[in-house]
Amino acid sequence: MNHAIFEKNSLILLIGALVVVSIGGIVEIAPLFMLRSTIEKVEGMRPYSPLELAGRDIYVREGCYNCHSQMIRSLRDEIERYGHYSLAAESMYDHPFQWGSKRNGPDLARVGGKYSDAWHVEHMRDPRSVVPASIMPGYPFLEKTPLNYDNVAARMKTLQEVGVPYSDDMIANAKADVLAQISPDTSGAKALVQRYPKAQVRRFDGQPGDDVPPSELDAVVAYLQMLGTLVDFTKFDASGPNLR
Ligand code: HEC
Repeated sequence: MNHAIFEKNSLILLIGALVVVSIGGIVEIAPLFMLRSTIEKVEGMRPYSPLELAGRDIYVREGCYNCHSQMIRSLRDEIERYGHYSLAAESMYDHPFQWGSKRNGPDLARVGGKYSDAWHVEHMRDPRSVVPASIMPGYPFLEKTPLNYDNVAARMKTLQEVGVPYSDDMIANAKADVLAQISPDTSGAKALVQRYPKAQVRRFDGQPGDDVPPSELDAVVAYLQMLGTLVDFTKFDASGPNLR
């Protein structure tokens, strides 16, 4: 009976809808103010190494996020397929984050270590050579394009300003660290791994020889092979105390 008031008067319906939505909003939003942080503390998360960061920039430039998400939801089928659901901490150094909203291809949040570098090189060159039914476009130019990393230190400085904990030491060594990450068994590589624990050091694009400058593919594969490998899940407690 009383409901007729709402059904006959659009203004009252609008006000009624606003009141109901506000109550819902308060119930959802207010508890978040009681938490000190919505980003859980985890072991192992670190800023990206300069080479990984360069790879991430190419990932953004090429629009890989249009087909790939980096956000494993806490649903059983996703966890069985991709691994542990994504944590907020895992994208806290991403500006902008790469969660994505579309999955023409699989989620990439934990693709690191799933395939060999050689697989990635083939796959980027010609996806159908390794996955015959693939609809992913090839990116054969990446291996032919030398990586331009002149501005990597400046990029890190910008990220430092928005809160990514790059140290001045990391920024000063940025360009040298790009080369160090593709030069195993050098003192530079050792220093790099100290600055960026778990950084993988090797030639990622399969080019022989130390004197070949890094390609864009080196950076992309270094980035892909790092994704999802940083957080130490043996030390992660999902029950909540991390949040307080
Ligand atoms: C038009 C959509 C599309 C775009 C753009 C795209 N991909 Fe894909 N990608 C796919 C599809 C579909 C697959 C699954 C088939 C395959 O493995 O090729 C895939 C698979 C992958 C895989 C293997 C994932 C796994 O777990 O098997 C990687 C790695 C990958 N893409 C990286 C990239 C990168 C890096 C870029 C940007 C340079 C990119 N993709 C751009 C559609 C896309």
